[in-house]
Amino acid sequence: MTTARSTATDSAMPGQVTVPPFAVISGAQVQQALQGREPEIVDLVEATYRVHGAGDSVNPPSYFLRFPDRPTSRIIALPASIGGQVRVDGLKWISSFPQNVAAGIPRASAVLILNDHDTGYPFACLESSIISATRTAASAAAAADWLTRGRPRPTRVGFIGVGLIARYIHTFLAGTGWSFAEVGVHDLSADSAAGFRGYLEQSGTSSPIILHDSAEELIRSSDLVVFATVAGQPYISDVSWFDHHPVVLHVSLRDLAPEILLASTNVVDDVEHCLKADTSPHLVEKLTGNRDFLLGTLDDVMAGRVTVPRDGTVVFSPFGLGVLDLAVGKFVYDFFHELRRYG
Ligand SMILES: NC(=O)c1ccc[n+]([C@@H]2O[C@H](COP(=O)([O-])OP(=O)(O)OC[C@H]3O[C@@H](n4cnc5c(N)ncnc54)[C@H](O)[C@@H]3O)[C@@H](O)[C@H]2O)c1
Repeated sequence: MTTARSTATDSAMPGQVTVPPFAVISGAQVQQALQGREPEIVDLVEATYRVHGAGDSVNPPSYFLRFPDRPTSRIIALPASIGGQVRVDGLKWISSFPQNVAAGIPRASAVLILNDHDTGYPFACLESSIISATRTAASAAAAADWLTRGRPRPTRVGFIGVGLIARYIHTFLAGTGWSFAEVGVHDLSADSAAGFRGYLEQSGTSSPIILHDSAEELIRSSDLVVFATVAGQPYISDVSWFDHHPVVLHVSLRDLAPEILLASTNVVDDVEHCLKADTSPHLVEKLTGNRDFLLGTLDDVMAGRVTVPRDGTVVFSPFGLGVLDLAVGKFVYDFFHELRRYG
C-alpha cells in the first residue's frame, strides 16, 4: 500500500476532524488480502446484504457508459454508501471490453474509490477487478448455501461460461466446504474450457471434470448450475432441460428466457436493481407486467421472511451491488491498515 497526502493531522487533538491519508492499493496487494479467506468474505457479504436489506445503505442505479463505435464494450459506475460496521461511501468504476479476452487479457478491469464517512475525503483507490470477482463469487457461494438448505446438497456442479468469474465462484464454493462428485464445464470457446480445466486441476480438486458440448447436456447433468457467460440475450428457453429441478446461479443475468424463470422460484439480490437493463428478470416483468414471479431477495431468504420450496427449480439472479464492493474494499483497506499499525 502506498500512501500520499501530507496532512497536519499527526498533531490533531482528540475530537478534531482529521484528513485521512490516501492509499493506493494494487491488484497484487488486494489478492494478498483476500486469498484464502473465503468463509470470512462470505460472512461479510451476507452481513452487507442484511445491512442493505435493513435500509442502512444508499445504492443508486448503476450508470452505464456505452460507445457507438464499440457497441460490445461498456464502463459502469456504481456509487454507493453502506452503514452498519463498515460505514463507508465510494464508487466502483468497472469496464467490460469482451474483445480483451482474445488478446489474452481479462475482459473486466476496475478501480474502487473509498470515501471517508465523516469528511467525504477519498482515502483509498484500490485495483478492483479482484474485489469485484471476489464479491460476486462470495455472493454466489452464499446463495448456493442458503438456497439449498431445505433439499439434498447438490453434488454435481456445472459451469456454463468459464472465464474469470466461474473460476472465482468455484474457488469460493470449494473454500466454503463444497465438494463435488463431478464438475461439468460448457463454454463456446474451447480455449476457455481448456483454461478452466487447467485451473481445476491446479486447484487440487479430486472431482472428475466433464466437458459438455451443449448447454442442454450440462444442465441435465448438474444439480447446481452456474451461468457466467457474456450472453447479451437469452438463448435457453426449453423448460424440460430443468425437469430435475436444479438450483441455478444466474450470475450473467441474461442467459435464461422468461419461460424458464416463470417455471422457477426466483430470488434476486435487490429487486429494483435486478429489474433493469434487460436482465432475464426484467424481461419477465416486461412480459407479464408484474413482479409476481419473484419470491424475494437473498436477504429475505436469510431472514426467514420467505421460504424456498424444497422442490422445484430455483434461480438466483444477482445484479451485483456497489455496497458489496465497498464492504470488500474496506476489508482490504483495513487489512493493510492493521498490518501497518501493529508492524
Ligand atoms: N451479477 C454480478 O454481480 C456479476 C459480477 C461480475 C460479473 N458478472 C458477469 O459474469 C459474466 C462472466 O464474467 P467473466 O469476467 O468471467 O467473463 P469472461 O469473458 O472472462 O468469460 C465469459 C466466458 O463465457 C463464454 N461464453 C460466452 N457466451 C457463452 C454461451 N452462450 N455459452 C457458453 N459460454 C459462453 C466465453 O467464451 C467466456 O469463456 C459476465 O456476464 C459478467 O457481466 C456478473
